[in-house]
Order: sequence, then structure tokens, then C-alpha cells
Amino acid sequence: MAEVILNKVNKKFGKVHVTKDVDLHIDKGDFVVFVGPSGCGKSTLLRLIAGLEDITSGELMIDGRVCNDLPPPDRGIGMVFQSYALYPHMTVYENMAFGLQLAKTESKTVEEKVLGVAKALQLEPLLERKPKALSGGQRQRVAIGRAIVREPKVFLFDEPLSNLDASLRVQMRMEIARLHERLGATMIYVTHDQVEAMTLATKIVVLDAGRVEQVGSPLELYNHPANTFVAGFIGSPKMNFLTADIVETGEVTTRVQIHRGQEIDVSANTLSANVGDPCVVGVRPEHIRFGEKDAIQEGGVELSVVEQLGNECLMYFNTPQSNEPVVIRVEGQTGIKAGDKRCIEFPADYCHLFNRDGKAFKRSVVGETSTSMVTELVAESISKQ
Ligand SMILES: Nc1ncnc2c1ncn2[C@@H]1O[C@H](COP(=O)(O)OP(=O)(O)OP(=O)(O)O)[C@@H](O)[C@H]1O
Ligand SMILES: [Mg+2]
Repeated sequence: MAEVILNKVNKKFGKVHVTKDVDLHIDKGDFVVFVGPSGCGKSTLLRLIAGLEDITSGELMIDGRVCNDLPPPDRGIGMVFQSYALYPHMTVYENMAFGLQLAKTESKTVEEKVLGVAKALQLEPLLERKPKALSGGQRQRVAIGRAIVREPKVFLFDEPLSNLDASLRVQMRMEIARLHERLGATMIYVTHDQVEAMTLATKIVVLDAGRVEQVGSPLELYNHPANTFVAGFIGSPKMNFLTADIVETGEVTTRVQIHRGQEIDVSANTLSANVGDPCVVGVRPEHIRFGEKDAIQEGGVELSVVEQLGNECLMYFNTPQSNEPVVIRVEGQTGIKAGDKRCIEFPADYCHLFNRDGKAFKRSVVGETSTSMVTELVAESISKQ
């Protein structure tokens, strides 16, 4: 295991500036997940760390050593790609042994290492097969095995599970979590999957257009997103945003007027703002409550679409304060149908508040309310209907 540090790392492909002033401190044994929209530079950042691309400016340190000019094989890194990139003409055993043989490892040691890793990844019965005779999940394990045998200090994974079906993904996700626990290695992992990011990461790095927007533990990012970009990116379905104005600033509670709607309280510190400033109220689908008095319009909102998913129910309505339909998420099953009207409330302690530039005001919530309490609140408000 090793620590990985990036200081003001930039990457330009000709005139295209892809990675911008990236500062990151990845501790030994961390499981860091990079997330961000397609094209924001996640794979590029991994390739810079692996040495598959040159760094344009800035410094990369692995295990206390500046690595900018170190060739990839000397960096102590194992990389697993989305496409697995196994050698088709080699057996599973040969695929796993190849890197060690290239490094001129003694054949007895090669055999010991490959067989040891094959056992741990349950690949023993498959060692004589070629990749084309394997399922996606098996190929994926071979790709991981090939990285492990070389005992890298840092593992880099670029969307390693994206080719697998849903149930295999869950299985492999747990296997990767176990692997991290067992090896204690530093891992850097790119994914588009919210659940993978939230469950595997010790730290999530949210990237947008080559810049780091926020770094934090999964729950820090969920509970305290620094801006509307992170707030909208972490959490699924995404956070709802409604335009509003500040009516009364405060250290603990701020009163805002939803545009063309009601006045509501938000538990946020707005001492740095002024009365009359435009702002954006953010509320997650799972935190909206049904109640007596609607936050948007008197008499309530009309639900245009209701999706019953069995384990949860998603309800949508359109409103002029939001560019996109507002979504409400309730656990379990409800009898609510499209066309029904409901009064919705935004509980002050669950709301987020952002300034006109999208930067979050600090939430003044003391402690975090657990999801089970949220569920109870929603259930309670539904039973009142
Ligand atoms: N060799 C290259 N030459 C020029 N531009 C490149 C090169 N490699 C990547 N880019 C550009 O850099 C940007 C970031 O690409 P990158 O592959 O890192 O994105 P990503 O975040 O991994 O996206 P995805 O989620 O789609 O995999 C893109 O706009 C891409 O077109
Ligand atoms: Mg990519």
C-alpha cells in the first residue's frame, strides 16, 4: 500500500485542457472513487497516475517518490480496465503469469503466486481455458487476478464492472470490497454507478470538466454537498432545485420565499447573505413530505407521473420554479395515482440552500437524521392523507 499525492496536476492534449489543477491526497489503504459526467477526465486522471499519459504540469508522488517521469512498470501499479484487455491467445494461467514472467520472476515463484491468487478468486477450475471460453464475470476476475499477482502498491480500476449484468455486478462489488479489506491496498476506482461509489469508497472525488469539485466521504457528500453540481450528482434520483429569494437571513434558520410560492424555513447559516438575494433551495426526493400546507402553491401540486417500483414509489410534478420535474420518493408501495393532488412540505432540517452561484450555505443541522427516521416521517405523513 502506498500514498498517492497529486499537486496541481494538469493535462493538455494539444489545445484541449482536460485535467485542471488537480490537488489530491490519497492515503495508504484508501478506496477512492472518481465520479463525474462522461468526458470530465476520470480515465485521463487514472492514466496519468499509471503513467500511460504524460503529465503536462504539476507533480505526482507515489509512496513518497516523485513519479512524473517514472516508466509505468516501475510505479508499483496494477490497472484493471473496463474492457479487461486479456490476451485472447493465452490461457487464464498464462494471462495471470505474463506480467511476472516479463519481470523475470523465477518460474517456481510465478507458479506459487498465480495458484495462490487463482485460489482466492475461485479461478482454479478455469486455469487452462482461454478468455473466449469464460463468462464476463470470470474474465473480470482474471483481469483482477492478473493485477493482484504483481502485488501492486496501488490498484487502478476504470469502470471494471460496467460490462456485467446487474446481479453479477452486485457479486463482484462485494468481491472487490472484500479484496480491499484483505489486501489493505490503496485503490482508485472510476464508476458511473452511484451504489458502487457510495458503498465502496472511503473517499469520493467529484470531478466536473477536469476540476475537482469536492472530495469527501460518501455521507459527507450526501449530507453536505459544497455546491449544486455535487448536490445534483450524488444521490439518485437527484436532488430537486427550486428558485427562491432570501426573506430573512440567520445563523441557524433562514427564511426564504419560493418563487411564486410560500415562505419556508431552511436550517442554514446565511449571515454572509442579504435579504432579497436570490437563492436555490435543494431538497432530495426522499426528504419531501406530504402535509397540510403546500410549500409551492395553495391547495397542493398535481402529480403528473407516478412510478410504482415495488420497493419504492417515485412521483413527479412540474412547477415553474424548477427546470426539471420535481421528484418525490417514498419507500414501499402507495395507492397514489397520476393526477392526484397532494400538499408537499420541505422539512427545514433536510433542505439545502445555495447562493446564486450555486455555492452551498453551511447547513445548521445538529447531527444527521438517519434514513429510517426519514422513512417514518414520510410514512406518518402518508397515513395522515
Ligand atoms: N488522446 C486524447 N487526445 C485528445 N483528447 C483526449 C484524449 N484522451 C481524452 N481526451 C479528451 O479528454 C476528455 C476527458 O476524457 P476521459 O476519457 O478522461 O473522460 P471520462 O471522464 O473517463 O469519460 P467517460 O465517463 O465517458 O469514460 C474528453 O473530452 C476526451 O475527448
Ligand atoms: Mg472513462
